[in-house]
Amino acid sequence: MRRVLVTGGAGFIGAWIAGALADRGWSVRVFDMTADRRIGRDLLGPRMDAFEWVVGDIAAAGTLEAASRDCSLIVHLAAVLTPFCAAEPVRGAEINVLGTLRAFEAARANGIGRVLVMSSAGVFGPAHADHPEPATLYGAWKLAGEGIGRAYAAMHGIDSVSFRPLVVYGPGRETGLSAGPTLACRAASRGEPCVIGFSGICDLVYVADVAAAFAAAAEGSAPGASVFNLPGAVVEVAEVAREIMRQAPGAEITVDGPPLPIMGVIPDNGVHAMFPGLTRTGLADGIAATLAHYRARA
Ligand SMILES: NC(=O)c1ccc[n+]([C@@H]2O[C@H](COP(=O)([O-])OP(=O)(O)OC[C@H]3O[C@@H](n4cnc5c(N)ncnc54)[C@H](O)[C@@H]3O)[C@@H](O)[C@H]2O)c1
Repeated sequence: MRRVLVTGGAGFIGAWIAGALADRGWSVRVFDMTADRRIGRDLLGPRMDAFEWVVGDIAAAGTLEAASRDCSLIVHLAAVLTPFCAAEPVRGAEINVLGTLRAFEAARANGIGRVLVMSSAGVFGPAHADHPEPATLYGAWKLAGEGIGRAYAAMHGIDSVSFRPLVVYGPGRETGLSAGPTLACRAASRGEPCVIGFSGICDLVYVADVAAAFAAAAEGSAPGASVFNLPGAVVEVAEVAREIMRQAPGAEITVDGPPLPIMGVIPDNGVHAMFPGLTRTGLADGIAATLAHYRARA
């Protein structure tokens, strides 16, 4: 059976991707600094317990080499998000930059020819999405990760695909700067008020679409290092609040905060041409699915 190592598999997107890969016949081994399977159990049920699990720090020497033995693919998601990177830059760089380097080194050590990497639209600054110009340490380090991928393709023939979503939302997204849309759905389903803490125009991609993109890329794509923006639905954040209140009458969702320091509209630079058939869930459908998840648990 083909085996995949998913770094960061205990987290929100990691659990979704692990589930999507398992659905397609991959044997999943999770590597994460935590042994806590709660997010995945909530999303995938007992299937989460079937995954092999290795606890370790991605920044530490040697751990990933051992964890990725017998794998034919590494999906690298383990990272800390924007607030952590701003608060603890040195530790943030160890995890996000050194950790990505270690993922590629582990691939090289074990003869693994493909790595899928979670980059971010945070590589773009607030002014435009014509070319990367990050305004945060998080974005700068995601951009460094893309460069690491290109270097390993050139130096060692390791193929990689990096994806750049902006705000990923959906069941399980409960931490980070842009968790507001999901937290608002959770609050609405519990009858609690909620303030979404950022505003402006923003691209929101539903998490199942992200998982589907990784699952498609796991089957192969062009050789070398490819980087794809992963656009979803471009919306005014106030529209997210209105849509939640439309679907959950009586909910009190407001928006209060600055825009994210990232251009809100990111172009499609070929992901749908490379992986035909990928879904692009609209806002209303994504909110409906997220509300349904939290209503079932309210
Ligand atoms: N959530 C979004 O909107 C979004 C958007 C773009 C990109 N991303 C990227 O997607 C990936 C997953 O993000 P998420 O939203 O699921 O976050 P998350 O915090 O839920 O998951 C990250 C996982 O990485 C693990 N991790 C952190 N430091 C580690 C370390 N030193 N060693 C091993 N594991 C470690 C955490 O324990 C966690 O399980 C990250 O690379 C993130 O930068 C997220």
